[in-house]
Amino acid sequence: MANPDWHRLGPVETLKQRSLQTVTVAGRPIALSYDEGRFGAILGRCLHAGGPLGDGTLRNGYVVCPWHGWTYQRETGEGEPGSTDAVPRYLLKQEGGELFIDLASGTHPRAASHEPHPLARRPERAPGALRVVGISTTVMDRQAPRYSTSEDLLGVALEAAAGDGAETKLIRLDSLRFRACEGYYSKSANACTWPCSITQMDDKDELTAVYEALVHWADVVLIATPIRWGNASSLYFKMIERMNCIQNQITTHNRVLIRNKVAGFIVTGGQDNVQAVAGEMMMFFGELGFTFAQFPFVGHSRGWSAEDMENNVAAVKADQELREGTRALARRCLERARDLVAAGEGAARTERGGRKANGSLK
Ligand code: FES
Repeated sequence: MANPDWHRLGPVETLKQRSLQTVTVAGRPIALSYDEGRFGAILGRCLHAGGPLGDGTLRNGYVVCPWHGWTYQRETGEGEPGSTDAVPRYLLKQEGGELFIDLASGTHPRAASHEPHPLARRPERAPGALRVVGISTTVMDRQAPRYSTSEDLLGVALEAAAGDGAETKLIRLDSLRFRACEGYYSKSANACTWPCSITQMDDKDELTAVYEALVHWADVVLIATPIRWGNASSLYFKMIERMNCIQNQITTHNRVLIRNKVAGFIVTGGQDNVQAVAGEMMMFFGELGFTFAQFPFVGHSRGWSAEDMENNVAAVKADQELREGTRALARRCLERARDLVAAGEGAARTERGGRKANGSLK
C-alpha cells in the first residue's frame, strides 16, 4: 500500500456548510460532499467528458455531473446501480477540528467501455458516385401539404444532380423529431460534445439523420429555406444551433469534421432579403468547413410589397429561368465537389505512399 499523503482541506465546520464543492488538492480536483453527518471525497472529474463533479448536485447520495448527468456515489465513487464506472474515492480524517485527505488512498478509476455512437467514427469518404443531400427547412402540415417554392426548387436541383450521375437524398426537416439545442456549450466548450450531447443521450432524437448525411455521407449539401420575416426559417435555425457540436470540435480538439464538401443554398420568399439570408447561411456553413462553388446560391423574391402570395407561387412554378438557374447551381456544386474529392483522394494516396516508403504502413 502506498504511503499516506495527507493534505489539510480546512476547518471541518466551514467545509460542512456546503453539501457539495470542488476543492483542489495538489492540482487535483476533488468533489467533496457532506451529507447525513459524513464527508465523502471522490475525484472531481467525470469519466464521460471531464465534467467538474464538485460543481454538480447531490441526489440520494450520488453526485450528479453538471454537464450531462452521469452519477457517482459520493463516498465510494461507484457509478449508479447497473453501471460499472467508478471514479477514485479518497480517505478522509478529522484532527483538531480540521479535515484532511489522503491523496495516496485513491482507488483505481474504472471506465466501463461504452459503445461509441455510430456518428463518432472517423469521417472517411466511402468510394462511389458523388452524393448530394438536399435539406428542406420549410415547415408545413405534411398531412395537408401545400406547395413550397423552396422545396420545389430543391427537388429541381436534386433531379439535376441525379441526372448528372450523383446519388441523391432529400431530408425534410419537418418530418424529423428533434430537440432544440440545450446550450451545453454555455456550461463549457468541452460540454458540447461530438456527437451532439443530445444525440448521445436521447436515442429518439432524429437529427442523427442530418449529422450522418453532412459529416459522413454527402459530398454536396443543398439547403433550401423560405424567407420568414427577413430570415431563414425557424427550423433552419433550430437545425444549425444543433451543429455547434461540429464546429466546436475545431475549437476543443483541433478536429475538422467537414472536409472536401460543398454547400449550396436555395432561398425563396414572397418578400425581400435574399442576400442577407444567403449571406448568413454561407457564413455558418463556411465556419463548419464547407466550401462553395462559384455563385453558391439561387434566390427568388418579388420584393417588399409583394403580399399577393398566390402570385408568388405561380411565378416560381412558371419561371423557367429560375428552374434552369437552380439546375445550374446543382451542377456547379457537383463540379466543385468532383475537384475536391479528386484532390482529397490524391492527398490520401500520397500520404499512404509516404507511409509505405518509410515503413509505417501496416
Ligand atoms: S456527464 Fe459528466 S461530462 Fe458528461
